[in-house]
Amino acid sequence: MRITLSVIKADTGGFVGHTDVHPEMIDVAIERMRVAIGTGLIVDAHVSRCGDDLALIMTHGLGADSPAIHGLAWEVFQATTAVAKRLGLYGAGQDLLSDAFSGNLRGMGPGYAEIDLEERVSEPIVVFLADKTEPGAFNYPLARMFADPFTTAGLVIDPKLHAGFTFEVLDLREHRSIRLSTPEEWYDLLMLIGSPHRFVIKEIRSRALGIVAAATSTTRLSLIAGRYVGKDDPVMAVRCQSGLPAVGEILEPFALPHLVSGWMRGSHAGPLMPVGYADATPSRFDGPPRIVALGFQLHEGRLIGPRDLFADKGFDRSRAVALELADHLRRMGPFEPHRLGLDELEYTTMPELMKRLEPRWSAEREKAEVAAR
Ligand code: 13P
Ligand code: 13P
Ligand code: MG
Ligand code: MG
Repeated sequence: MRITLSVIKADTGGFVGHTDVHPEMIDVAIERMRVAIGTGLIVDAHVSRCGDDLALIMTHGLGADSPAIHGLAWEVFQATTAVAKRLGLYGAGQDLLSDAFSGNLRGMGPGYAEIDLEERVSEPIVVFLADKTEPGAFNYPLARMFADPFTTAGLVIDPKLHAGFTFEVLDLREHRSIRLSTPEEWYDLLMLIGSPHRFVIKEIRSRALGIVAAATSTTRLSLIAGRYVGKDDPVMAVRCQSGLPAVGEILEPFALPHLVSGWMRGSHAGPLMPVGYADATPSRFDGPPRIVALGFQLHEGRLIGPRDLFADKGFDRSRAVALELADHLRRMGPFEPHRLGLDELEYTTMPELMKRLEPRWSAEREKAEVAAR
């Protein structure tokens, strides 16, 4: 059976501040999804959230970039924005950058990750939703899942995994993309994706199976809007098992809470903490950044699940390390590298400050002394 999985997300208002989505917004989205299943537009749906970002996880037969599916998501986000406005929630409609929908969500604010697939006999999929970070935050875990044999044992011992994967990487600054294959181009790949602010993994394909294994959302909200409107909190979908990494290999990279950009005001480095759904409510310094993992068995288009995969006790130590790192970094206050470098800051008073201080700068003393001689 051919089916498309569409994971579409937007921050349409925070409850309270930027910490959560209000239950009434979730209810409105569930009701809209129910109607869309009833009319046959979509096969199945699950509504979720991470922090203040609402996510629609949908299956349908219309393919990726479908105007009907993107239009449905846009309508749902308009409806949840209306709830947010009625309740006076924070940043109502934050991610909706345009008043009119023009056939596709590209460049309109919401983020989306979509996979067109031929459903396998058993199709386990993990949908990851993150808050207080950016799409490049997935570079590190994806590299480890699909190319690091110390993480994914299957890369060594399963012939289908052994053939490697092809990574499509976007260059967000130059608006271009490249495909690199592992294992042979592993070092070249790492050179790029080690800079997640600029280079972002968009899609990964299995070389042996010729199928898409993972897709991420890659909209850069701040660049689109040309001003700060919130970090583009990302989502991704990863297929598992039978020649792809096992569910446990997909989750393993998150045992290390790696540092990502985002957190308070989108302007701080902090650990990405894997949490169960109930704990995906970033509040300390609006963080630390969170990620949830929702496991589904996709069957005849139906989303059997979710299983709340990071609720597992096996991630307790990762959370403890994340909190330890959070304490350590927070004590640095406004100093880099906790506060992001000037080129990465989402908000900045720097231009205004430099203008105000301009008349008060004098030549470096040493230079002045040399000039006086
Ligand atoms: P598959 O190769 O069938 O995915 O099995 C691997 C596995 O489940 C290891 O945990
Ligand atoms: P969001 O991007 O999740 O809306 O958070 C913005 C922010 O400024 C948090 O401090
Ligand atoms: Mg917000
Ligand atoms: Mg958010």
